[in-house]
Amino acid sequence: MSDANKAIEYAHKNHGRFTKELSEFLKIESISTDDAYKPEVEKAANWAADHLRGIGIENVKLLPTGGHPVVYGDWLKKPGAPTVLIYGHYDVQPVDPIELWESSPFEAVVKGDYLFARGSSDMKGQVMATLNAVESIMRTGDFPVNLKFLLEGEEEIGSLNMGGFLPKHKDLFKADFCLNPDAGAISADEPTITFGLRGLAYFEVHVSGPARDLHSGLFGGTVHNPAQALAELIAGMHDSNGTITLPGFYDSVRPVTDQEREATAKLPTTPESYLEQTGVPALWGEKEYTPALRTGSRPTLEVNGLLSGWTGPGSKTVLPARAMAKISCRLVPDQDPAVVQKQLIQYLEEHAPKTIIWEVKPLHDSPWAITDINTNGVRAMAAAMETVWGRKPLYRREGGSIGVVAMLQNICGVESGLVGGGLPDDNIHSPNERMHLPTWHKNMDAFIHFFFNMK
Ligand code: BES
Ligand code: MN
Repeated sequence: MSDANKAIEYAHKNHGRFTKELSEFLKIESISTDDAYKPEVEKAANWAADHLRGIGIENVKLLPTGGHPVVYGDWLKKPGAPTVLIYGHYDVQPVDPIELWESSPFEAVVKGDYLFARGSSDMKGQVMATLNAVESIMRTGDFPVNLKFLLEGEEEIGSLNMGGFLPKHKDLFKADFCLNPDAGAISADEPTITFGLRGLAYFEVHVSGPARDLHSGLFGGTVHNPAQALAELIAGMHDSNGTITLPGFYDSVRPVTDQEREATAKLPTTPESYLEQTGVPALWGEKEYTPALRTGSRPTLEVNGLLSGWTGPGSKTVLPARAMAKISCRLVPDQDPAVVQKQLIQYLEEHAPKTIIWEVKPLHDSPWAITDINTNGVRAMAAAMETVWGRKPLYRREGGSIGVVAMLQNICGVESGLVGGGLPDDNIHSPNERMHLPTWHKNMDAFIHFFFNMK
């Protein structure tokens, strides 16, 4: 039996224990955006560090970043062989709206082919698929390549401190390739390599008017309602085609090439698949681009949250003093988050009425990334996928963001292979997040083949 098959046999025998260990990891409420959960985030970092030590990784430590720590570890006993950096994040998104969860978000429940829990698909499950693959090789033979680990706790808040952290540890994270299983796949039957991620620029827009909430009968009609003024401003940020109206917004957007149009048209991400995955009555967006191009290759401006006035039970006749919107833009090559911030401010300067006061608070940003698919690492992964799925992977640009990918390129000179077992209907960032267990198992097998293909 080949070394890869010995490791795969070990993995298959241990699926039950792997699921139990993942469930322990998922119990930890590592919500990075909420300070109240800081001890839990730290606990998740320590859990991951202990797990790395347990499977034979050396020099495991928590490195301070100024925010949540980075978990580092390595295994460097193959002089002359390539070094693979394994990336993951141990933080998760908030669970609200909690009432829509069918089971408790931090108690993993298996129903049929799925394991339900916050962070199951995005991405504690993906982290564990990778670590389980590493363990399976460690326990059945000799590891074919050198390993380093970079597990962060701030991915879901835009890798806030990574840009300051990485330059200080440039040499520590030197590697020939980074395996990043945070990018998901098109479907369970279609192994996928992602080569593009969008960037992000996230803001709060605050609008205020009267010094305090007013009686809407006494003052309605003479005072511009801040909720209405904010809604009017937001409504003006797109035209009727769904194109963004911030001044200069598309100036540095790389045009979609004919070649990209053709390649994207061949992907199974069709208007029908978007309708089916979302449940919307009809799709929306720039008509000169297909939905797959709109998410992969075009920028967006999205309202992520709105806050104003009375939203409790029943009614209250109030003219609110304040309104706030959380707004983020997904960015594509060659847009710069700092420039987009200026464009948003310029839009408000040009369009905000004199009746209100406005303020923009930047929260965080993340760079876009295009990765090289002609690296040994991507070839090794593509071959591994073909072995496991019996078909070649699909290549796509994704709409989500993973800040570290461009930072590893620019700061450490490391290219990433973007893969993973997350599926479009896993409800990531939503209630009832779940992970498809058969895909989880296949990914473990693929990662095992990948390490042997890398040597
Ligand atoms: N794993 C996702 C990103 C992703 C999902 C990439 C599917 C490709 C396919 C990641 O955890 C994520 O959600 N990132 C955030 C980053 C943001 C806060 C800067 C995102 O995209 O919203
Ligand atoms: Mn996420």
